Amino acid sequence: MKQEIDWCNLGFHYTEPEYIVRAAYHNGVWEEPYATKDKFLHLHVSATCLQYGQEAFEGLKAFRGVDGKIRLFRWLENAKRMQRSAEGLYMQPVPTELFGKAIRLALSKNLDLVPPYGTGATLYFRPLLIGTTPRLGVGPGRDFEFIVIPSPIGPYYPGKFHCTTFIVNRHVDRAAPLGTGQFKVGGNYAASFRATEAAHAQGYDCLFLDAKQHKFIDECSAANFIGIKGNEYLTPRSTAILPSITNDSLMKLAKERGMKVTRRHIRLEELEQMSEAAACGTACVISPIDKVLDPERNKSYHFGNEPGPVLTELYHALKDIQYGRAKDKHHWCEIVDLP
Ligand SMILES: Cc1ncc(COP(=O)(O)O)c(C=O)c1O
Repeated sequence: MKQEIDWCNLGFHYTEPEYIVRAAYHNGVWEEPYATKDKFLHLHVSATCLQYGQEAFEGLKAFRGVDGKIRLFRWLENAKRMQRSAEGLYMQPVPTELFGKAIRLALSKNLDLVPPYGTGATLYFRPLLIGTTPRLGVGPGRDFEFIVIPSPIGPYYPGKFHCTTFIVNRHVDRAAPLGTGQFKVGGNYAASFRATEAAHAQGYDCLFLDAKQHKFIDECSAANFIGIKGNEYLTPRSTAILPSITNDSLMKLAKERGMKVTRRHIRLEELEQMSEAAACGTACVISPIDKVLDPERNKSYHFGNEPGPVLTELYHALKDIQYGRAKDKHHWCEIVDLP
């Protein structure tokens, strides 16, 4: 039976799709991706994903445009990033073609889950790669499973585009400078929960500093940091942060608007000189920051209670491309032709 979905009040939660897509890698060969209604895995208890955290994932969206067409946003970049994550954890990378096929299959089998235009909701895809070889001796496996889980999600900002407050944490590091921070792997998120949950308990989000010196801004919870200083778009250079596809897109849009775009180490105190700040990622595009609190140093940085003009413009510019309201000069959207 088809589920009745209240698109406008979906929230940012998991909704069970009808089908997921799976493809296994055994004996050096990937099988063809197939759709299944079964959401459970028959997984060996000693699988390397369970024992040693051999797991990587991705997150991307399909948008129903103003013209009724379905657009997949920059999925090739997600495919490449997942390949880098796989290499980072000694897993078999998912070939680009297989990745694309699996996403399109997950979409075509769940077409009724693509939210209508105007609701602000989207169809989110969670590609997942896990090690399935049973192993007790510490080491990587040889068998893998690639899974794509689609789920419609509500708009990040159901009401008004609004600001969030961040708090600095110097007691938990999300990722080491030469560790796995640049990969999208489950272990990074588990490692961040102590800090993010402590921040949430106080009503904030967590700002991570670089793990070596705790001087420079690394990431905003599970999103990249952006700061606006005069006509400059600033974002951290760090080997411990995830290269955000949203950030990359926003940097290109900022450059097109004549802004200087700089990626470098950013000292926490430099927030004082910024007129606007935000977190960015697939979920929210841009989440403007009103305040950053640094209780240990008894300092706070303020950016006003309303989203600033530069970030607001970039936010709308990117969303206009995703929804087909503006020209897609960079060919970021794949319009999916479905019967
Ligand atoms: C740790 C982290 N940083 C940054 C991002 C933003 O990346 P993207 O813009 O590709 O969603 C994400 C979300 O995927 C993330 O989990």
